[in-house]
Amino acid sequence: MNTDHTSISVKPFDSPRPDEYAPIPKAIKREVAKGLNLPPGPNPLASDWLTLTFTIDTPRFLERMRIRHGDICSFFLARQLFIGVFSAQGAYEVTVSKQHHFVKGVGFARMRKVLGEGLLTNEEPIHMQHRRMMQPPFHHGNLDSYVALMDKIVKAHIKSWNNEISLSHEMMALTLEIVCQCLFGLESSKYTRRIAKAMEIAIDRIERTMLPGLDRFDSTKIPYFTAFAKASDELVEIADEIIEARIASKDERTDDLLGILLSMRDQISLTHIRDEVLTLILSGHETTANVLTWAFSYLSANPKWRERLREEAMKADLDQAPTYQSLEAMSPTASAILQEALRLAPPVWVAPRIAIDDVEIDGVKVPKGAHVLVSQFVTQRDPRYFTNPESFDPSRWLDSVFERSLPKGAFFPFGAGSRKCLGEYFALAESRLILLLVAKSFHLTNKMPKAAPRATYRPRGLVRTRVESATSR
Ligand code: HEM
Repeated sequence: MNTDHTSISVKPFDSPRPDEYAPIPKAIKREVAKGLNLPPGPNPLASDWLTLTFTIDTPRFLERMRIRHGDICSFFLARQLFIGVFSAQGAYEVTVSKQHHFVKGVGFARMRKVLGEGLLTNEEPIHMQHRRMMQPPFHHGNLDSYVALMDKIVKAHIKSWNNEISLSHEMMALTLEIVCQCLFGLESSKYTRRIAKAMEIAIDRIERTMLPGLDRFDSTKIPYFTAFAKASDELVEIADEIIEARIASKDERTDDLLGILLSMRDQISLTHIRDEVLTLILSGHETTANVLTWAFSYLSANPKWRERLREEAMKADLDQAPTYQSLEAMSPTASAILQEALRLAPPVWVAPRIAIDDVEIDGVKVPKGAHVLVSQFVTQRDPRYFTNPESFDPSRWLDSVFERSLPKGAFFPFGAGSRKCLGEYFALAESRLILLLVAKSFHLTNKMPKAAPRATYRPRGLVRTRVESATSR
């Protein structure tokens, strides 16, 4: 285990996989897979063609696999065995009841080059140790002071909107500011601009998160890949500066996450604190920004729901900052809109894993070494669980029985099991607040963007959006 408690040293980009993690079994190559009695799937000889179609539109590729070959199917990408697990029962077993048979998959190894051993990319035993330290401030009972700060930030940020905005850019800037101020007490945009620039490149390069072999280019001189290393180093420098500035200030506050982690330096090294800072910056803003951009775009395409949200926002008491609970109580429509956007455009749309043992999933044998893909995008569009799955219909979430009657594993935008999202309630609070505050002041209109799925399910381009005052209409 890393024991440097006094200085920040190791950079994630070239760091090897820590020895205390479970060893990764060898991938299963096409040649050796013949005798394995695999679940149905396309001809293994078509692997190269399949890899190409996979990279063109990965979410729809996975959905086609389910429709053509069933809930659990096998296919070869980059000539290695992948098992798609698309039934609710299968997703539940991989993420919850049989999660110990899996480690995080290929995309996460690439993400580790940016985030080191932070919560998103670390594994046992480091994961549980960090998770226990970081969980309490994210409990919904402890979020009121963050919600108050979010309220202040959102009101100040949207004040300057008029005529036209780039919606995806605005949502990214807003959620980054929220995460930096709430979790690290950063008051200025000094860091946020630098972070945004480097994160943009890092997230783009992590891209095809479950395709093996991409990392062999990372040490080449090809500018596209050297930019990845540079962005990772820049982010490390920024996180180091943030931590060093806090230590130098002798400010021992423990009302933000940085203060809490620094107060536990006897249990966590500075390098690992740095990795957690980077992890929270990345996981804490991009996902929320994306789902909000999709939510406003769905509202623009469904004026009836945009109007219902406006009515809810006009009735809500938004002059004072709400508490977590009062916000939840005043936003049933905003919450239903959010759930539906999380269903159709889940920011985390796939969970790549590797089987570290032979294991049976939903009655089908998955061999040790197989890449396993569970996909929120596919399962949350399955007509067995959601009627008219392609249509944006928040009313399904207003029916109190509906969500409780869904089988386990049918809806899991925040993941599940011990790797469930740490920031779920934080994200829900900020999203509800942004939906309400924006709807109270503005009427947004834009064209539905195309998807550009990368490490997250991003909308493509700037998403130009017309801004009109909500009261002058
Ligand atoms: C709408 C917004 C968000 C969505 C949809 C989302 C979704 C997810 C999902 C699906 C996972 C599990 C990934 C896996 O199993 O492979 C995850 C993990 C995580 N998320 Fe989020 N997330 C969101 C916002 C946030 C925010 C705001 C934060 C922090 C402020 C955050 C911090 C994390 C962390 C630290 C993990 C790793 C947890 C662990 O493995 O113990 N997320 N998120």
